[in-house]
Amino acid sequence: MAKIIPDVSRTFSEYLLLPGLTKRDNIPSNVSLQAPLAAYAGAEAPRLCINNPFVTASMQAVSGVEMAISLARQGCLAFIYCSQPIDRQASMISRVKTHKAGFVESDSNLKPEDSLADAVALTRRSGHSTMPVTHDGSKNGKFLGIITDKDFWEFEDDLQARVSEFMTPKESVVYGDSGVSLHEANSLLRKHKKECLPVLDQDGCLQALVFKKDYIDHRRNPYELLDSKKRLVVGAGINTHDYKERVPALLEAGADVLAFDSSDGYTEFQRDAALWIREKFGDRAVIGGGNVVSGTGFRYLAEEAGLDFVKVGIGGGSICITREQKGIGRGQASALLNVVAERDRLYNDTGRYVPVCSDGGLANDTQIIIALAMGADFVMMGRYFAMTNESPTPKVSISGRMYKPYWGEGSNRARNWQRYALDDEMNLKFEEGIDGYVPIVGSVKDVLDVTIVKLRSTMCNIGALNLKEFREKAVLTRISEQSFIEAGTSNVVRLDRDISLDV
Ligand code: IMP
Repeated sequence: MAKIIPDVSRTFSEYLLLPGLTKRDNIPSNVSLQAPLAAYAGAEAPRLCINNPFVTASMQAVSGVEMAISLARQGCLAFIYCSQPIDRQASMISRVKTHKAGFVESDSNLKPEDSLADAVALTRRSGHSTMPVTHDGSKNGKFLGIITDKDFWEFEDDLQARVSEFMTPKESVVYGDSGVSLHEANSLLRKHKKECLPVLDQDGCLQALVFKKDYIDHRRNPYELLDSKKRLVVGAGINTHDYKERVPALLEAGADVLAFDSSDGYTEFQRDAALWIREKFGDRAVIGGGNVVSGTGFRYLAEEAGLDFVKVGIGGGSICITREQKGIGRGQASALLNVVAERDRLYNDTGRYVPVCSDGGLANDTQIIIALAMGADFVMMGRYFAMTNESPTPKVSISGRMYKPYWGEGSNRARNWQRYALDDEMNLKFEEGIDGYVPIVGSVKDVLDVTIVKLRSTMCNIGALNLKEFREKAVLTRISEQSFIEAGTSNVVRLDRDISLDV
């Protein structure tokens, strides 16, 4: 007869944290959110840490190059999706690794014979108001000058006039020569009071642009995640089917960490693949895996497969229909609690600490905070990042509001059969994910800033200065339906919900 475990499957929204003693040094600016991403023993330092405990799901609708660059700049990490050909994924990894912070490839360029109307249209399309002019309008063409929206008046000047008549010609532009360091480029911007510095090669062709605003941004991002060569850190999703070809290509391209992207990782396939990678690449490879929902699954991957971290979660993802399609999964809070208890047991038994990632189903900042309080070392999110400007999907207007498409890796749209199939059967016979839309909420930095402020504030309420202290000191209570209602506002009319303003 099947075994029925006594406890009910629970979710994060069923719990609340009780405040602990807040000491005088428990102020948000003293809180560290650093989290380990690689297994470590005893007092040794983990091979890889992130500075803020958030990573992106390895999904087509989430983790592209722009997302990876933004995440690393915020001290977090993106996993470039693996449901694409190996060479394309490797090239995305190398674009992140070769992204020279501060030097940007110009993506809005004009030819001298283009009209001002072309310049206006380009600004509307790209959102960029500084446009280099090259002989053929290409990003690496011969540099002839630069035009910005300050050089002409859209509603006064003749928009049929040529760009060459309004641009600042090369002779009057301050530019840097190829090989100029970022420090030198910024000094030139400062000395000449400029906003943008073109960098030209020996033949006078445009190589890159350096912006003053990027320098300011860099100074405001003290948590940026860089490798030993000062390149941004990036992760890559992998699968158990083509790892013998994919993993060497990804590591060669510079991937700092790999993670098996699988709905159910408690398998011999994942163990065998992890052991193969470890044998071939040793500790140079940081390998995560999963997903699991039980302590037993965790222990198998942590011990037998020797993984560096293990992801928890089946069926909780916002686009996920695995539970209703196949009847497998577990409430995310119950799964996480079960796994972190086993992580701590493993540490007590062996002295090896294997970080745990709570993956999927985090519907708001409170749930992120509860997941970390319950013991997740870091969290993986899809929807949260799909809603930002940096996700790789186009904006869509629906009934006057802006959205972005967001689809599951198990949907017909993604056709990521490697994530779900146990054999090499390439047909997706049924879907485990849906294809939908999410509202746009702003930039990665905007949304992370808010989440981080709330997390630090809660940690101060608990009296914790770091995430380890947070989970050790956290005391949680289960809430009743009535206290759930009490947690909202009561007996007041809310402007944002109850009153419709006629404007
Ligand atoms: P979200 O943060 O709630 O949107 O969940 C993202 C997580 O859902 C991913 O990290 C995956 O673990 C999982 N996931 C991605 N695609 C699918 C799918 O098609 N079906 C089920 N789960 C999925």
